[in-house]
Amino acid sequence: MKTTLVTDIALLRHAIAQARRSGRTIGLVPTMGALHAGHLSLIKAARAETDFVVVSIFVNPTQFGPKEDFNRYPRPLERDLELCGQAGADLVFHPQPEVMYPSDYRTFVEVTGLQDVLCGASRPGHFRGVATVVLKLLNLVQPDRAYFGQKDAQQVRIVQQMVRDLNVPVEIRVCPIVREADGLALSSRNEYLEAEERRQATVLHRALTKAQRRIEAGEHDAAVVRQVMVEQIASVPGAVLDYAAVVDADSLQALDRIDAERPVLLALAVRFGSTRLIDNLLIR
Ligand code: PAF
Repeated sequence: MKTTLVTDIALLRHAIAQARRSGRTIGLVPTMGALHAGHLSLIKAARAETDFVVVSIFVNPTQFGPKEDFNRYPRPLERDLELCGQAGADLVFHPQPEVMYPSDYRTFVEVTGLQDVLCGASRPGHFRGVATVVLKLLNLVQPDRAYFGQKDAQQVRIVQQMVRDLNVPVEIRVCPIVREADGLALSSRNEYLEAEERRQATVLHRALTKAQRRIEAGEHDAAVVRQVMVEQIASVPGAVLDYAAVVDADSLQALDRIDAERPVLLALAVRFGSTRLIDNLLIR
C-alpha cells in the first residue's frame, strides 16, 4: 500500500479534512520512528479499527534531557516509510522540529503527580515533553482513536489522564507489549545493545515474571515482591537498576500491600552500559 508522506501542517490538515469529508474515521499512531513489530502492531490495530490511518514520525526534542540520546536516536526514514506502507498506514506525518516548535513556542502540558514518579524521577521534564507533543498531535490530526503501546505504561497513564482532564475528544487504545522469543520487550533502543548486553537484557522480563508468580502464590507485601525483582536484576553483573517498583496501576504510587481489588503495575528501568531499558507487567 502506498503511504503519503507529509511534512507540513497545512498539507496534513488538508489530507485529514479530505478523509473526514468522505466520512472516514481517523486513527493516529504517534511514534518517534525506528519502527519495530511493536509499532506495527499499533498500526495494524488502527488499520483494523479506523478508515484512515495516520502515523506520526517525530523524534520529539522536548522529551529528551540534555544528556540523553536525542542526537543518537535512530532515524531510518526510508525503511520506516516502507514498513508503514506494509502495515497499512495511509499517511505519515514527519515534521521538522521547527514545524512543531517554532522559535517563539511557549506552551507545555504537565500532568502533575503522574509525571514525576518512576521514569519521571530519573528523566525530569520527559513526560512534560511527551504530554505536550501528544496533545499537539491530537490537535493536528483530531483522530477518533489514538494508539499507544503498554510497554510505555507510565506514558499511557499520563496520556489517558491528560485526555480526560483536558476533554480531548479521542479514544485512547492501548495495545499489548510485543516481545522477542526470549521475553525482551521490543524497543527502538534495543539496537544500542552490544551482543553481551542483549543477552543480559532478558533479565527484565525474568524479574517481572518471577515477581508476578510470587503475587500469584499469595504474597501481599509489596516490599517482598519488589525485592524479588531487585535480586534478579542484581544477579546479572552488567545490569544497573534505575528503579524497581510495585505501584497502583492508576495512581502510579508505590503500594505497601497488594490486594485483589486494585490493579498492580510491576515496573522496571535498568541500564546496560549507556542504554536504559524499561519494561512492565500489569496485574489485574
Ligand atoms: O512513545 C513514543 O514513541 C513517544 O513518546 C511519543 C508518544 C511518540 C511522543 O513523542
